[in-house]
Amino acid sequence: MTRRSGPARLVVLVSGAGTNLQALLDACADPAYGARVVAVGADRDGIEGLARAERSGVPTFVLRVRDHADRAAWDAALTDAVASFEPDLVVSAGFMKLAGPSFVARFAGRFVNTHPALLPSFPGMHGAADALAYGVKVTGATLFVVDEGVDTGPIIAQRAVDVADDDDVESLHERIKTVEREMLVDVVGRMSRDGWTINDRRVTIP
Ligand code: GAR
Repeated sequence: MTRRSGPARLVVLVSGAGTNLQALLDACADPAYGARVVAVGADRDGIEGLARAERSGVPTFVLRVRDHADRAAWDAALTDAVASFEPDLVVSAGFMKLAGPSFVARFAGRFVNTHPALLPSFPGMHGAADALAYGVKVTGATLFVVDEGVDTGPIIAQRAVDVADDDDVESLHERIKTVEREMLVDVVGRMSRDGWTINDRRVTIP
């Protein structure tokens, strides 16, 4: 995908601590990075991810599913809110809701999600815990283009992380998150500066 001129406009969606968001905010402080976070959206109040955005002077919005008549109404509201910021790229960074069909269609090809496992292994809400329980020796992080499925879209980048014998879910997830943040900053920056193409399932950043 090619972009308009100027830094790429990122809208980031969060549900929790927002350390991936913080990594992007920090990277965007350098004009050479080629992107800026124009808004941060969440599905809940009172989270550190929103506080991080506010401390950086980035506009925020909160849309809770329970404040809408049904999931489709929430999806439409989320779509409108994100679209109002005219993003070049929408980044789901620890956003613990499945965006619905209208959202996925509206931002097709420019909605990416970061996941704490090597997809297609261990999709869903508990990527680190599921990998640990299965007993794999290597897991990692995946950045992918969101499609209509659950963590099934075309893969943009992956990083591997060894599982240690004494890992618990927290220690493993923290180690994954360290490489995940580096991957996210690296790849979103390259996508922002250089664009990207998607052919079938193959994503290429020139
Ligand atoms: C990240 O590890 C992200 O991959 C994961 O939540 C964490 C958010 O951390 N997302 C999922 O599991 C989505 N299925 P953060 O709030 O500190 O950025």
